[in-house]
Amino acid sequence: MIEYIPGLAGVPATESSISSIDGKNGILAYRGYSIEDLVKNASFEEVSMLLLHGELPNQQETEEFRCLLQSHYRVKSNIRTMMWSLPPTGHPMNVLQMAIASMATFYPEAKAATPDSAVTQNALIHILSTTATLVSMWENIRNGYDPVPPDPSMGYAQNFLHMLCGKEPSDDIVKLFDACLILHAEHTINASTFSAMVTASTLTNPFAAMSAAVGTLAGPLHGGANEDVLNMLDEIGEAKNARAYIENRLKNKEVIWGMGHREYSVKDPRATILQKMIEEYVNKTGVTLSKRFETALEVERVCEELLSAKGVYPNVDFYSGILYAEILHLPTDQFTPIFAVARSAGWLAHWREQVSHNRIFRPTQIYTGADFRKYPSK
Ligand code: COA
Repeated sequence: MIEYIPGLAGVPATESSISSIDGKNGILAYRGYSIEDLVKNASFEEVSMLLLHGELPNQQETEEFRCLLQSHYRVKSNIRTMMWSLPPTGHPMNVLQMAIASMATFYPEAKAATPDSAVTQNALIHILSTTATLVSMWENIRNGYDPVPPDPSMGYAQNFLHMLCGKEPSDDIVKLFDACLILHAEHTINASTFSAMVTASTLTNPFAAMSAAVGTLAGPLHGGANEDVLNMLDEIGEAKNARAYIENRLKNKEVIWGMGHREYSVKDPRATILQKMIEEYVNKTGVTLSKRFETALEVERVCEELLSAKGVYPNVDFYSGILYAEILHLPTDQFTPIFAVARSAGWLAHWREQVSHNRIFRPTQIYTGADFRKYPSK
């Protein structure tokens, strides 16, 4: 008898050296370095190199990698033309998925069978570089503007904000955004990474694997939850309404968005870092946030009382939406695409790892349908 485990919870599906989670103690590490250390000391470019190549780069390697990424910021104009033909109401995640998949047509030589060839390596760098450009292009195009061209003199986070918002971000904002990219860059084999790995295991091209991951990340039980958190906070309105709102949702067996995680039975370390970053930014700049932050703190307090027995605490999505909306003033439906941009680093690292010890994924099932029977005679 094979035991059926819904959602493959706790079932090892691979061996990996990219990241690790200690869910009982709230620890996340990339290649052995704690997320707290990386946010404090590294840039997104360095973290991407760490994930892709296994070790932290030295200063010269970082500079070379930064230049390599910068040389790939631009996107083929055909993709821009395709975007202009889409309805402006299209969700940015759907557009991103389409755009990444379409990039395969420009790199037909990029193949999983030859992961170390110059052309495949070039394609991987291109994916990491241009996801930010694609997300920013759609933001401009859907509003009727020509995309803001990338600035090859800027670092990854700065250039991304420059293209997305069309203005120069302050150093504090760039640092904050860079930290958000690092926090979202990798998280073991969650649903979207697993999706990338399953797709990679067929030895299809890397663009197909990345677009599958984007499609998977879009769902509200995964990356899409950060949008729902903000909607929920707006529905609650103010802190004093939080308890009644949460009790009512729990009574109706509805989830509280941004709470709970398959891997953590304590608060997600990324939520702790994001909350601290918001508080530090507010203290430093004196900026006033809307009632959302105060409401979120109360939601967390009430949930701690009502859900901690089940090991349900804030996850990364609980505070990321507040930071993006209240401090970076980004549109709500771009939160998940930004998550996807950051996570491309992790997805690509898993793609490389998967194809280096590949066996096609082909799980089994427990059949629950009709017994063998004859086609009825007419
Ligand atoms: N709100 C209320 N209850 C929750 C909850 C939430 N957000 N998350 C988990 N629970 C409860 C479940 O109802 C279940 O209760 P039960 O044992 O009485 O049936 C228990 O906690 C265990 O949860 P389970 O559904 O087994 O967890 P999972 O590992 O299958 O699901 C998530 C993990 C992330 C899908 C789930 O926590 C969730 O839906 N969270 C909200 C969406 C979200 O924020 N996603 C972003 C993840 S980064």
